[in-house]
Amino acid sequence: MKRFAGVVFDAYGTLLDTGSVAAACEHHFPGRGAQLTSLWRVRQLEYSWLRSLMGRYADFWQITADALDYACPALGLHLTPVVRDELLRGYLTLRPFPEVPAALAQLQDQRRMVLSNGTPAMLEAGLAYAGLLPHLDVVLSVAPLGIYKPAPEVYAMATVHLGCAPAEVLFVSANGWDIAGATAFGLTTCWLNRANAPLEQLGVAPAYIVRDLRFVSPTTVSCSV
Ligand code: LAC
Repeated sequence: MKRFAGVVFDAYGTLLDTGSVAAACEHHFPGRGAQLTSLWRVRQLEYSWLRSLMGRYADFWQITADALDYACPALGLHLTPVVRDELLRGYLTLRPFPEVPAALAQLQDQRRMVLSNGTPAMLEAGLAYAGLLPHLDVVLSVAPLGIYKPAPEVYAMATVHLGCAPAEVLFVSANGWDIAGATAFGLTTCWLNRANAPLEQLGVAPAYIVRDLRFVSPTTVSCSV
């Protein structure tokens, strides 16, 4: 693999499996767990974009809670305070995708960073729980900026931190819209297309597309588009 100034990873959906909350959702709302998990995540992302456009930042913990508070009544589900707390805490104990720890370890010769919408506290807790902190050199949160991806200034955090040109950063995300934002900013991007989804039609394409993180390794980045 070309040596980059740093390899920068998205967190939620890329390293950490947001689907991990599905079991708790299903436990509390039998037969509706998958629907709730999905609508909760969709609204969480939509609220991040909408609040950015509105200029009304609230941190990612708050919008994760707001999204749950929307998703439950939208699906006709009654959310008690106790269940709300438990489901939210699930965001601090997400599992890493199975290949992630070994794939990150394999990249030890590169500078490995996370750049995420999550709050510093959420990221610290979640990455520690998943056992990923030892494999990461730096964890950057959008919180000090008060705006979310795909705002260009978020991706600039990586280049400022590394003191390099955008193209010298390899940015890895499973979120197609995040890859579009990073590519538009000028980072070299690798889309982790876990869901075998079509390319987002946003006028930019990633440099690499891989199926899982094992393909981002010193020897196997090869799936260029
Ligand atoms: C993040 C969101 C995009 O970790 O999942 O930034």
